[in-house]
Amino acid sequence: MENFYLPKQVKIQEIRALSPTVKLFRLPAQGWSASGGKTFTPGQFVLAGVWGYGESPFGVASSPYEKKFADIIVRNTGGNVTSALHKLKENDEITLRGPYGNGFPLDFFEGKDIVMATGGCGIPPIAALIEYIIKNRGKFGQVYLLYGARSPKEILLKSKIEKWRRDINIILTIDSPHPDWKGHVGFVTDIIPEIEIDSRSAVATMCGPGPMMDALEKILRPLGISDRRIFVNMERKMQCGVGRCQHCTIGDKYVCTDGPVFNFDEIDKSWD
Ligand SMILES: Cc1cc2nc3c(=O)[nH]c(=O)nc-3n(C[C@H](O)[C@H](O)[C@H](O)COP(=O)(O)OP(=O)(O)OC[C@H]3O[C@@H](n4cnc5c(N)ncnc54)[C@H](O)[C@@H]3O)c2cc1C
Ligand code: FES
Repeated sequence: MENFYLPKQVKIQEIRALSPTVKLFRLPAQGWSASGGKTFTPGQFVLAGVWGYGESPFGVASSPYEKKFADIIVRNTGGNVTSALHKLKENDEITLRGPYGNGFPLDFFEGKDIVMATGGCGIPPIAALIEYIIKNRGKFGQVYLLYGARSPKEILLKSKIEKWRRDINIILTIDSPHPDWKGHVGFVTDIIPEIEIDSRSAVATMCGPGPMMDALEKILRPLGISDRRIFVNMERKMQCGVGRCQHCTIGDKYVCTDGPVFNFDEIDKSWD
């Protein structure tokens, strides 16, 4: 019988520090395949870890069309798994299972304007979604990334962001003034009038939970995007990752198999 919990051992190809607490781990191609020539669906996650320390969920952050490698981006929370991952070096091994979960409803997004509101925690799956959108740019309307970080040095994927600017609108903001920062500070409420979308059909994505509620109240509600068209990336502690242990439930939904991407309408009543 297949053992769902048995991970592969995978050698880390490359490690890059993206901020004082965040590292990117480049892993070799895993032979994944998803529909339309993709290797996974943006929004899906893997369970990665270190023998003896456990495993944790991380969104796949590289392009879903990338066949040579897969990236995960790990913030060191000081907990068991992320601390152990941050101690590893290139060519060390990690454990890996997945990809799991549903990912974003890409077909539903087609033909629509898209607003992606995210904080530091939420950029990995959004990076994969942006790569998908750019590869299929003609299928989407106006696209906005609204990305907030605590300080300039905590903005992740800076060089990618500069590349993405050629194809999508990007608005960066930091929490409080900083001598090296000339962009927006605080919430981006003041630039909402500059966001040109068709609010009757536009879709939005959010990561959470903290930044999510702020983004909802301060950006998405004023833009007039209905809850039915808001998609939320939920974060929950996980164990099995495959719908068997109930560690990840919200109400009667399993974040690992029904999510991690939920329609806001589905989950707002069981919000915590
Ligand atoms: C579907 C999904 C996708 C995810 N994708 C990513 C990703 O791409 N990159 C990433 O860095 N993390 C991601 N996370 C969060 C990541 O799984 C957790 O940070 C990780 O499990 C922490 O494990 P740990 O053993 O190091 O810490 P734990 O021992 O579990 O926790 C240590 C401390 O960190 C706090 N903590 C736990 N999770 C978080 C969190 N998400 N943010 C802030 N503090 C936290 C805990 O409350 C505790 O105080 C994702 C989570 C889910 C459910
Ligand atoms: S993590 Fe076990 S049911 Fe979701």
